[in-house]
Amino acid sequence: MRIAVPAETAAAETRVALVPRSIAQLVAAGATVDVQAGAGAAAGYSDAAYGEAGAGLATDRNRLLGDADLVTVVQRPAPADLKQLKPGVVLVGLLDPGGDPQPLRLLTEQRATAFRLEAMPRISRAQDMDVLSSMATLAGYKAALLGADRLPRLFPLLMTAAGTITPARVLVLGAGVAGLQAIATCKRLGAVVEAYDVRPAVRDQVESLGARFVEVGIESEEQQDAGGYAKELTEDAQRREQEVIGEHVRESDLVITTAFVPNKKAPVLITKAMVDGMRHGSVVVDLAAPAGGNCEYTRPDEDVDVNGVTVLGPTNLPATVPGQASQLYSHNVTRFIMQILKDGEIRLDFDDVVVAQTCMTHDGKAMGEQMSALLAGAAA
Ligand code: NAI
Repeated sequence: MRIAVPAETAAAETRVALVPRSIAQLVAAGATVDVQAGAGAAAGYSDAAYGEAGAGLATDRNRLLGDADLVTVVQRPAPADLKQLKPGVVLVGLLDPGGDPQPLRLLTEQRATAFRLEAMPRISRAQDMDVLSSMATLAGYKAALLGADRLPRLFPLLMTAAGTITPARVLVLGAGVAGLQAIATCKRLGAVVEAYDVRPAVRDQVESLGARFVEVGIESEEQQDAGGYAKELTEDAQRREQEVIGEHVRESDLVITTAFVPNKKAPVLITKAMVDGMRHGSVVVDLAAPAGGNCEYTRPDEDVDVNGVTVLGPTNLPATVPGQASQLYSHNVTRFIMQILKDGEIRLDFDDVVVAQTCMTHDGKAMGEQMSALLAGAAA
């Protein structure tokens, strides 16, 4: 079985799908792995390191894509690349069909079996394949550092001969994987941290990190779906959340927002009026920018200055730590490939939830209701 690792082509993408350590594991499992020359350079992995791990180096991208039985990527390849794929190929990556359904049509035409790793079930058995958690951990950490750097003040309480400096106040909204890591990082830097999430189970996790859980009064088990994700709030609940959160936003130096609802636009937690009421120099770091933002002022990958308040909407913080982001991503991808590889060949078990839930196209068809609806909506 021939696995290909093309260089990423999306703007500002510095990660690579497989690092040399994983290549050695896949080669030991009987696969042949080819890597596009220079694919790991931005993440700090040289062509020589790939060669030593047993990979072949390819200089002709179209040939690399066309010869492979399995192609693994970080972000979804461009349509021109998808057209190069061999019929029946397996494609593995963060394929984000909701972002642009058109490639679904190309993938079905190629009879590709495409796996979107972002749909990995959040179950114990799949933890080592959970790309969303790996990347969210890095994003949460970097969001805290970004906020600390842009804030015109220190984080910790300092008692000096020249006087006492009070600690920065941080509010984290949405305390899933990214939010919890942001809380932990801000605490380590010495800030006073408050946090809120609609899922009640989060309270203990927030408190165990030494942060205060903000009470809104709407958090309940019913706010969580069977997969553990948050549901969209009713209008009343959203209004109540904004009322309570608004008071805390006003008192905060830094607000980090991370709230997502699957397959929906991100909930608005911070209105323009709330930002207008923040102190000069305060900062908002909005990790929900790719889904429309939790703050009404957010613009993806732009610094927005609102009368001295900075609103940041970074969309790919893992790419700012590309070596380790690639290391974790590569581990997740390799565990997944090992899962579908039996005796050196791909064998798919659609009774396995890991396969069934991540597969978006197979044998010329879109898989599942959501993908079928998207495909129907893709312009022919
Ligand atoms: P996510 O990225 O989908 O959302 C981030 C956070 O925003 C979530 O905690 C969510 O409850 C919160 N949120 C949504 N709407 C909100 C609102 N209006 N106000 C405040 N907060 C809001 O979530 P993530 O981090 O991907 O986690 C999803 C679920 O998966 C969680 O239940 C988590 O515990 C679970 N999980 C399970 C794992 C496992 O068992 N292997 C691994 C990682 C996560």
